Amino acid sequence: MRTLVRDLLRSTAPADLVHAAGWVRTRRDSKAFSFLEINDGSCLGNLQIIADAGIPGTEKLQKMSTGASVAVEGKLVASQGGNQAWEIQASSIRLLGEAPEDFPLQKKGHSPEFLRSIAHLRPRTNLYGAMFRLRSRMSQAVHRFFAERDFYHVHTPIITASDCEGAGEMFRVTTLDPTSGKPQSFDRDFFEKATHLTVSGQLEGETFACALGNIYTFGPTFRAENSNTTRHAAEFWMIEPEMAFCDLQGDMDLAEAMVKFLVREALEGQDGDLEIFAKFVDKGLRERLEFVANNPFERVSYTEAVEILKKSGKGFEYPVEYGLNLQSEHERWLTEEHFKKPTTVFNYPKEIKPFYMRLNDDDKTVTAMDLLVPGIGEIVGGSQREERLDVLLANMERHGLSTEDYSWYIDTRKYGSVPHAGFGMGFERMLMFVTGMQNIRDVIPFARTPGHCEF
Ligand code: 4AD
Ligand code: MG
Repeated sequence: MRTLVRDLLRSTAPADLVHAAGWVRTRRDSKAFSFLEINDGSCLGNLQIIADAGIPGTEKLQKMSTGASVAVEGKLVASQGGNQAWEIQASSIRLLGEAPEDFPLQKKGHSPEFLRSIAHLRPRTNLYGAMFRLRSRMSQAVHRFFAERDFYHVHTPIITASDCEGAGEMFRVTTLDPTSGKPQSFDRDFFEKATHLTVSGQLEGETFACALGNIYTFGPTFRAENSNTTRHAAEFWMIEPEMAFCDLQGDMDLAEAMVKFLVREALEGQDGDLEIFAKFVDKGLRERLEFVANNPFERVSYTEAVEILKKSGKGFEYPVEYGLNLQSEHERWLTEEHFKKPTTVFNYPKEIKPFYMRLNDDDKTVTAMDLLVPGIGEIVGGSQREERLDVLLANMERHGLSTEDYSWYIDTRKYGSVPHAGFGMGFERMLMFVTGMQNIRDVIPFARTPGHCEF
């Protein structure tokens, strides 16, 4: 049985016989022996192998080049020199798969753009290996966060006939053939109606919160936004908690707690995965994350935020005016220059927010909240939901939504309606925040953006 390189590197005592396997990072030969550095993806560190000339397998030594895969057995011994405590004195080494000279990941550093074009190989690099191990750990931490708070995990559908956000960004799902040349109507389609990939599991999630109490969803989310930015993907992962018997305050509290929990999780990461980001991506990373984990966040109403922005004297590209959406330059200025900490903006004008948000007593604003963080802007968007049947129906009418299509949603307000609230956190945005990575394409295994759906 092979032992993970991570566990071998953490050993506390030598061992007479261990098995390891991995991909060759480098090899150096001398007359009497060769040094191989192998990495098996279990951690950032490489394991050094010493293969004496002539041991079984060394007849293929020349093919054990960078990128090739090998299996070794031998003694785990204290390392004589260099960076690591342990190395393997091999008794045999076996070539599993060779990597010819055109293997794209040679020793030189590669640009993120080039590595995106080989997204199937980039997890074999130090930086992206660390990235995707961290992504996995953070995903498990999300489930732990909710498990510790007794939230139930609900699997909401990916194919849906409803539109949560109403921003016109949906991908159509159909089995109709657009090249057939025949007139086609949705009643002849697979589901006998128009269907799309979900932009949010919220509406379905709300029905479960109105039965189980506290729930969350965590799944792929799709938006056909034609905005080619570093923070938007057409397919991304969203975490959406929904709480019954909860108001906007409770919602903001949970969002802040979740950001802090995940930041702490990243800080406690093992095996140097976070260190590599601090070294190569963002020198101030650790300090920034420690600050976020250990200090209160700011909260400010939309109205106040607009006033602060207007008084800033900054020449923004987009106008700041009550009634307009905050742009990412505004969000970033608030968190980076003004408050210098994560900031939740709440109570937005009803005109710029979706139909489901609860109308405030001023009749002008809704209980929306966006949690903004330095370097990124919006990382969480949520609200208390409109639980009053008559107000909800009026909102839907204002948004031009058919009550027939949403009758199931309306039922939750008709039968035992309760105050409830929730939010969506963009998982990739959170990963960008904790690693300092500047492009969403570099924190998701295979990015889907306008014009790009490779792999
Ligand atoms: O603010 P949004 O659009 O909120 C909703 O969808 C609500 N239904 C959530 C809820 O209340 N249950 O999206 C939530 C978050 C954003 O704050 C952002 O972090 C992320 O999802 N997000 C994206 N991430 C990557 N690429 C995109 N195109 C994104 N659009 C939103
Ligand atoms: Mg939003």
